[in-house]
Amino acid sequence: MLKGRDLLTLIDYSPKEIKEIIDLGIKVKKNPKKYQNALKQKTLAMLFMKTSTRTRLSFEAGMTQLGGHAIFLDWRTTNLTKGRLEEEIRCIDRYVDIIMARVYKHEEIQAIAKAAEKPVINALCDLFHPCQALADYMTIIEKKKKAKGLKVAFVGDGNNVCNSLTVCGAKLGANISIGTPQGYEPLPRAIEEAKKHSGVVLYNSAKEAVKDADVVYTDTWVSMGQEEETEKRLKVFPSFQVNKEIMGFAKKDALFMHCLPAHVGQEVTEEVIYSKNSVVFDQAENRMHVQKALMLKLLGKA
Ligand code: CP
Ligand code: NVA
Repeated sequence: MLKGRDLLTLIDYSPKEIKEIIDLGIKVKKNPKKYQNALKQKTLAMLFMKTSTRTRLSFEAGMTQLGGHAIFLDWRTTNLTKGRLEEEIRCIDRYVDIIMARVYKHEEIQAIAKAAEKPVINALCDLFHPCQALADYMTIIEKKKKAKGLKVAFVGDGNNVCNSLTVCGAKLGANISIGTPQGYEPLPRAIEEAKKHSGVVLYNSAKEAVKDADVVYTDTWVSMGQEEETEKRLKVFPSFQVNKEIMGFAKKDALFMHCLPAHVGQEVTEEVIYSKNSVVFDQAENRMHVQKALMLKLLGKA
């Protein structure tokens, strides 16, 4: 039962619950009219400590398409930092039906969820990006007709996107292969959870990680909040760039995926991101469809 729940990390969701959301996302995409009044008179508060293009727009447009309303709240132009976070959230909670927040620390999204009675969605923190992973597997299922048994390779920084991709994929039966530099491996808790459901193998090499993969995924080497480490990271990651040579180790029809924004010329080359195997814009679009499904589920209106 998803009604009234929070989505802080997909570690808390069962494979069945994840499948239900993605299946509904596919249905909502095919027949948006059916759901156009499903969240009439409902309001979503969107709190952002960090910048965003896709997350903000996909939630805001998605809420409009469901007949509801979304309110964008920038951390700097609200009083969220003046009062105690808990008090501010308790007030927001009185006005709206559902809250999403993009924060720095996972503890911050946990604190928001604790203070709010309404469902809270993690729209990215330092450890997880669950909405991204839901959209990614919706895209994989659309393109490959399944996720189970596929080899999904993530190359680069074992970051929030990698953690969520790993947990979500393993729960859907995909075999996860991760190539990172030493010291940049994903969160042990995410790996532990994923291993309960499917195979997860860690490498310190891009080539080994992508060998015979059905999907090759990468993300920025410098996530939001890590700007001070830029110089160091740009020295550590170049051998983990996804280029034509690396894609050559994957299956011929392997999808290339990236959550965006991409730093073309760093983690991926222009040739790969604009190749016919790249599905990055479908991923971006599917954020909206799957988040519509998620909000319908959490508000008990599916
Ligand atoms: N992929 C993603 O979350 O994009 P934004 O940071 O632009 O929201
Ligand atoms: N790992 C990136 C994802 C951006 C959508 C970040 O956290 O900045």
